[in-house]
Parts: sequence; structure tokens; C-alpha cells
Amino acid sequence: MTVTEIECRIADSFNETFESSSIRSSLRLQAKKPDSGIVRVSRGLYAMSRQSTSRFEYGKATLIQGDAFAVMASLEESSIQAIVTDPPYGLVEYKKSQVSKLRKGQGGVWRIPPSFDGAKRSPLPRFTTLTNADREKIVEFFGRFGEQALRVLVPGANIVVATNPLVSHLVAGALESAGLEPRGQLVRLVQTMRGGDRPKGFESEYPDVSVMPRSQFEPWVIMRKPMDETTGRNLAEYGTGGWRRIDDDHPFGDVIKSAPTRKEERAIANHPSLKPQKLMRQIVRAALPLGMGMILDPFAGSGSTLAAAESLGYSSLGIEQDSEYYNLACNAIPKLTALED
Ligand SMILES: C[S@@+](CC[C@H](N)C(=O)[O-])C[C@H]1O[C@@H](n2cnc3c(N)ncnc32)[C@H](O)[C@@H]1O
Repeated sequence: MTVTEIECRIADSFNETFESSSIRSSLRLQAKKPDSGIVRVSRGLYAMSRQSTSRFEYGKATLIQGDAFAVMASLEESSIQAIVTDPPYGLVEYKKSQVSKLRKGQGGVWRIPPSFDGAKRSPLPRFTTLTNADREKIVEFFGRFGEQALRVLVPGANIVVATNPLVSHLVAGALESAGLEPRGQLVRLVQTMRGGDRPKGFESEYPDVSVMPRSQFEPWVIMRKPMDETTGRNLAEYGTGGWRRIDDDHPFGDVIKSAPTRKEERAIANHPSLKPQKLMRQIVRAALPLGMGMILDPFAGSGSTLAAAESLGYSSLGIEQDSEYYNLACNAIPKLTALED
């Protein structure tokens, strides 16, 4: 509702009028409290959050249960120094109906890969089945996400988004259209069970063919909120505008050798998209060039970004809409934080 609509509704309901400035300042105050149920959508426009928001705190990490867009809309402008996130890029795979199929082991868009070398793999969403309409939804989703990111980030802030080779261009394009600058891609070298299969039904006829290359990397899109003048000014004013070096001799690089998430971590956080701490700690550490500021993960899942931030002594804020994954994260964050690399 706009403030004027709220004013009229109060006048109708209570036969009394209030100054719009006092309505506005009360809404502004409420919207700053994550669990008030009031979110600021844009200037003078507020919404009631339909879900009651729960909140979990551990050290310098805060996790809010709610919708990423609604919670981000309630955050203050220019209050975040970096975003590191692994969003639902197929968009349908984390819909209630699909998550419940996954939990029942029925599959749906989730593919349960066969065991390989004695190791049990996590389920993977099928992205090869995306239609043009699905692609448009992805572009629309990341366009909205980009707009919110632009508002909450300080100038020069890094955004690092996990994607996959089939959608990374859509994600980068939508974020760029929203006003963020492309800054390359990060390659996580990891062998997954995607691709490499022989043509279904024609395996013996074409034994030397696989339909798609076996995927051996995971692309992470890197974007930046445009800087305010020079790098020096951004570093001094906002603590942003670069990447934290590994050490004197090694700048942070855009290829990270990785492995599928370890059994030990999956036993702590049984989320189908759990990212390994070793990888997350490298990315999160580098995303704040001076090691100061707040990392946001709006699609927190089981909290691996927050745990990585906590293990580095960084402040972090996560948002997760699914109540089971939220509860899982509350339990997992302290345990993932405590793990050795
Ligand atoms: C790919 S998973 C992230 C997993 C995470 N990297 C981890 O290591 O646990 C994406 C998460 O985003 C959540 N999600 C999807 N849409 C959301 C929304 N609109 N707001 C908040 N969370 C959302 C899903 O429930 C899912 O847990």
C-alpha cells in the first residue's frame, strides 16, 4: 500500500485522521525491525510480510526466515559490503511441490545420480529441460534481484553468484541490465555427474557418443555495484572496490580447485545444494578486500556462506524461505563453522 492508501484506510476504519508524516515515520521504524512483518518495498510503499519471520543469531551471523525479496526490501540502503550466494537458478526446483517430491525421493525435476566410485552423490536439478518461458522467468527473477542488490549494496561491492553452464549467461545479463557491472567469472573446478551420458535409448548404437560434455566446472558470476570514483576512495569510504589477496605473493584467482562437498559436511547439513566450506571460505574471504563489512546471502540454504563468514570473523546476514532448511541451517551453522578446512 502507498502511505496515502494507508491514510485513507485509517480514516475510514477509525473515523480519525493521522498526519502522513507520522504514519511514514512509524512504518519506517517498523520496517527496520526484521520481525515486525512490515517491509519497505520502495519510497512510500510498504507491504505486510505474509510469513512471520524467525531469526537466528550465532556470533556475527544472523539468519532470517523469509522471502529474499521481502527481507531485502526491508534492509537499509547501502548497508551491505558484499553478496555471496547460490540462488535457485532453475527457479522451480525449490518450489514447495518439487522440494516435497525430492524429500519423498520421487525425483520431479531432481535427478538422483547413481553412486560413483563407492560415493553417494547429492541429487541434482535437471536444467536441460528449461523452456523459453523458464528462461524468461530466470531473467525476470535476476532482474528483480539485481535491483534489490543495487539498492542495499555500497558502491564498489562485489556480488558472487553460483550458477551452472546452462544459465550463467542469463544470470549475468539480467544482473547487468539491472545496473550492476560484470567483473568476470569464477571457475570452481569440480567434477559433477552432469553430462557425459550416451544418447538415451541409443547407447549400444552410438557407444562413442555422449550427448553433452561431462561438466567439469561450475561457473560463478562476478558482478560489482558501480564504484564511486576511484578504487582508493571506495576502499577508504566503504571498504570495497577490490578483492582480499591470499597473501603477499598471491592475489585471489578466478579458478579454484574444488571437490564435491565432503561426507562429513553433508552429515551436518543434508541440503541438496550444500557447498563445501573450503570453497566458501576462499570466496567469502576474498569478497571483502579489507576483511571488514557485512556479507549477505539471500538464498542461504543450510547456511554454508554464513558459516564460512563466521569462521573468518566476518559479519553476515542470511535469508532462507523454507522452514525445514532454515531449521537445518540454525543447527548446521555452528557445526560447519567449527570444522577445520
Ligand atoms: C541452491 S540453494 C542454496 C544452498 C546453499 N548454498 C548451501 O550450501 O546450503 C537455494 C536456497 O534458496 C532458497 N530459496 C529459494 N527461493 C527463495 C526466496 N525467494 N527467498 C529466500 N530463499 C529462497 C531455497 O529454499 C534453497 O534452500
